[in-house]
Amino acid sequence: MINPIKVFETPNDLAKIGIAGIMSPKPTATRKEIEVKTATSLGRPLKGEFNLILNQAFPEVRIWQQRGKITTIGQVKAVIAENLIKTYDKGKIRALDGLSLDVEEGTVLGVLGPNGAGKTTTVRILATLLSPDSGKASVAGIDVIKDPGKVREVIGLSGQYAAVDETLTGWDNLTMFSRLYHLSPAASKKRADELLEQFSLTDAAKRPIKTYSGGMRRRLDLAASLIVKPKILFLDEPTTGLDPRGRIEMWEVIQGLVKDGTTLLLTTQYLEEADQLADEIAVIDHGKVIARGTSDQLKKEVGGERLEIVAEAKDLKQVAEIVGKVSGGKVLVEEGSRQVSAPVTTGSRALIEAVRSLDDLGIHPLDIALKRPSLDDVFIALTGHVAEENKPEEGEVKSRRGRRK
Ligand SMILES: Nc1ncnc2c1ncn2[C@@H]1O[C@H](COP(=O)(O)OP(=O)(O)OP(=O)(O)O)[C@@H](O)[C@H]1O
Ligand SMILES: [Mg+2]
Repeated sequence: MINPIKVFETPNDLAKIGIAGIMSPKPTATRKEIEVKTATSLGRPLKGEFNLILNQAFPEVRIWQQRGKITTIGQVKAVIAENLIKTYDKGKIRALDGLSLDVEEGTVLGVLGPNGAGKTTTVRILATLLSPDSGKASVAGIDVIKDPGKVREVIGLSGQYAAVDETLTGWDNLTMFSRLYHLSPAASKKRADELLEQFSLTDAAKRPIKTYSGGMRRRLDLAASLIVKPKILFLDEPTTGLDPRGRIEMWEVIQGLVKDGTTLLLTTQYLEEADQLADEIAVIDHGKVIARGTSDQLKKEVGGERLEIVAEAKDLKQVAEIVGKVSGGKVLVEEGSRQVSAPVTTGSRALIEAVRSLDDLGIHPLDIALKRPSLDDVFIALTGHVAEENKPEEGEVKSRRGRRK
């Protein structure tokens, strides 16, 4: 693991200096320390004390200075998407509607959105498998539209639906992918063995994929995307369809990659996953980023506590009225889970008030609680619906929420 390094922010405008590295006038470091978890330059980890020189003329370029000398120049943003628009079916379906996002080098961006939000479309554009109708995107500073071949050299992709061959064994799949990446036969075998070991699949190496569990399949698929040790990795819903154990195993594998300095863009429908893995979260819906920030920032944005009551179906209407009176805010009724909730600002007083009113009407709720905001609440507040709709069972293919204009 790379230890956190000390970085001092230097607010010079390098337009005066030029990015070639001639320091004139000399920038002076301010004493503003910033926390950087992993700092890399052109893929190499940095160690020690550094000045980070902000460059207003070229904001995408990060310059590290050590003991008065410019050490290295690297990208601030490993991934940038600007105003992407993508339509399908001759413009009838607007999958991306001006989507913009970026991922800082060495960090994890969680792209969180419900079915049909545009997650896979975004990943496919960034991974050069699809062209946008308009907009710009770059990966490692390389234009994905103008130079897709170069982008492919620096990225790994594990798609939403596993790309491995069912009839071949795990080992065969990995050696085949290695050969596709132009590794020699000997190097291919070595890499396949290493990856099977890393992903705890050595015992299953000689079995055909069709005998693998969902979790093993996803791990093998991820292994296949890591053959050339990409600096930037795209994972499209890496744990959808996995059971809780498979999900936690996958999280551990992903956390290991991140510790090694891989920049990661990960899509998910699971708020907990974004909470666990992502440094920053971009919430998308209807092909647009509707909010972004750390999990804590997003929770703060939604504000205080919520009153949540689960009641019998016949009582939901009256419960909603009571909650509305106590809250004064927007009441959300989820018929399926028979839950009524709304934001409150008066803490336990709101709870007591609600209990009294319920009792007066002879309604006995199944559950009543005051909850601090979760990412779920953030999602509801932002999109008006819950995130994990149509949660698929293992192996089941999800239904798509088609959006027609
Ligand atoms: N090849 C296609 N042809 C027509 N419509 C498409 C195609 N691919 C995606 N769409 C539509 O574009 C929208 C965005 O789809 P996308 O697959 O990017 O969403 P998603 O966020 O990945 O959803 P999910 O969580 O279900 O994987 C949806 O309305 C989808 O039905
Ligand atoms: Mg998808």
